[in-house]
Amino acid sequence: MMRWKSVSALVIHLSLLIAYASRLPVVYALADTFAPGEIWRDTQGIPINAHGAGFLYDRGTYYWFGEFKVAGSAGNKAHVGISCYTSKDLYHWKDRGIALKVSGDPDSDIADGSIIERPKVLFNTQTHMYVMWFHLELKGQGYKAARVGIAVSKKPAGPYTFLRSFRPNGEMSRDMTLFQDDDGSAYLVTSSEDNRTMHVSRLSDDFLSTTNEFHRIFVDQVLEAPAIFKYKGKYYFVGSHCTGWAPNPAVSAVSDSIFGPWKMLGNPARGPKADITFGSQSTYVLPVYGKKGAFLFIADRWNPGNAIDGRYIWLPIHLESEGFTIPWQTRWDLSAFPNFN
Ligand code: DGJ
Repeated sequence: MMRWKSVSALVIHLSLLIAYASRLPVVYALADTFAPGEIWRDTQGIPINAHGAGFLYDRGTYYWFGEFKVAGSAGNKAHVGISCYTSKDLYHWKDRGIALKVSGDPDSDIADGSIIERPKVLFNTQTHMYVMWFHLELKGQGYKAARVGIAVSKKPAGPYTFLRSFRPNGEMSRDMTLFQDDDGSAYLVTSSEDNRTMHVSRLSDDFLSTTNEFHRIFVDQVLEAPAIFKYKGKYYFVGSHCTGWAPNPAVSAVSDSIFGPWKMLGNPARGPKADITFGSQSTYVLPVYGKKGAFLFIADRWNPGNAIDGRYIWLPIHLESEGFTIPWQTRWDLSAFPNFN
């Protein structure tokens, strides 16, 4: 009797093991989770190549725009352009190709070998155009040009047509983001004055230029990598200090107006390597569509020696009474947000 029991137990264990093992690849392929810092593959199994990301939500689809990097340190410059991926659920991303191509004309502002960083896209309801802004550095000039570039498309995934590059309000502009407020107005938030001070400018109604007004924020704080989100009438900022490609402690702030005054809140990162923002630098805060209080912190773990292998750090933002934290998670999903369903 004993022998029969142990044989059947063994059979049960073995069959459970086989069933579990046979499910493993399926579970992996369909994983509805985020694994910050691990290689993240698109729906074809190719690592996602979209750094310094910006996002657009358009009619049920998320669009992820980013710097398409090539291997080695050559990847720190633009040799291909801005890539685009789409997703319905934020976990699985389909490659939609290159949304904005670098130009083959060596005299173009966006020539192969220029620097094109941190693309951000908004839809303009007046012109029905998708408008992309990005940080642009002219070929062969390092980071001296300090401009923004603008490109437009009739379709969200592109192809985008480059329009022009310039210094907004005649002022230097490096790391940048766009923020669209509830009333539809849009703003450029950018590291200016040689990165010493940020400028916030309201965009023109067609989103193709800044208006002639800018506000200086974080004066003399030397910040970059700006990302803005809004919750319950308050504006929140996350950014970084300026240490090139090397990570440093993130910075957060809150304000009643995008123009300030901003109240500094310190480094929101929590957990291992929080002092260097988990080895990453902010690029965007993505609101989950239709889910109040659900915001994703989106950052880059740069790899300047092999730019193509930069990794993505996506983490849930934990909102607090005034301010927020970003706790480290090795693997997580959208149920991490309170009352998410
Ligand atoms: C940090 C910026 O945030 C990046 O976008 C890039 O410009 C690097 N500096 C270059 O060192």
